[in-house]
Amino acid sequence: MNKECPIIALDFPTGKEALDFVDLFERESLNVKIGMELFYIEGPRIVQELRSRGHNIFLDLKLHDIPNTVKSAMNSLARLEIDMVTVHCQGGLKMLEAAIEGLESGTQQTEQPPLIVGITQLTSTSPKHVHSEQLLDSQITLEESVLKYAQLAKQAGLDGVVSSPLESKAIKQTISSNFSVVTPGIRMDINPMDDQIRIATPAQAAQLQSDYIVVGRPITQAKNPVLVYQTITTEWQNARKTLNKEV
Ligand code: C5P
Repeated sequence: MNKECPIIALDFPTGKEALDFVDLFERESLNVKIGMELFYIEGPRIVQELRSRGHNIFLDLKLHDIPNTVKSAMNSLARLEIDMVTVHCQGGLKMLEAAIEGLESGTQQTEQPPLIVGITQLTSTSPKHVHSEQLLDSQITLEESVLKYAQLAKQAGLDGVVSSPLESKAIKQTISSNFSVVTPGIRMDINPMDDQIRIATPAQAAQLQSDYIVVGRPITQAKNPVLVYQTITTEWQNARKTLNKEV
């Protein structure tokens, strides 16, 4: 996965639409995220198609089940030779450890297992939601809940977590600067929020120390996706450069 470029969320209903979309970028190697919508209809074939075109694959299926089931599922996913996968931290420590075991057992000895990152709180979740629906104690903030999940992920041996950009800095400070933070919820000032709640621009995400940004609709639904992708990539890269100079 190339940290210098955004990860494009290929949330399309068919493989054909996803492939037509990436072909707009001609020979450029992209970071692409395959989520439930595309994987459930197309299965492993779409992973192979995108890999054969030279793209880096983030398979975002957010696994959440009993440890043994997650271990077996991760073993199967590792055999698809992907670059990054997700698992829900809410499944608990044993399940997260089982996920890693499954990935390691499914990876050929000559290869590295994919990066594994844990979902903390979805970027569509509001502070009100965690209290009224998840019944989180009213004394505990959404950020504290994200940090707790990040600690659990670290303890289990995950490579990082997925969170809103607004929590990246606190995660880095609490866990370690090497612990990866992947952040969806990215919007340019002119974009609608859609169903995202905890959002930031690419430059803000870089300043907040996100390692990877995931961008879907602002690019996939744009009139000129290549131009918007280039604009977002430039903003992200420039902000990262400025930040590195300051450190
Ligand atoms: O279109 P948009 O930019 O909102 O897409 C964000 C993508 O990131 C979606 O594919 C969504 O499933 C995913 N995601 C998220 N929040 C998380 C984890 C993943 O929005 N916490």
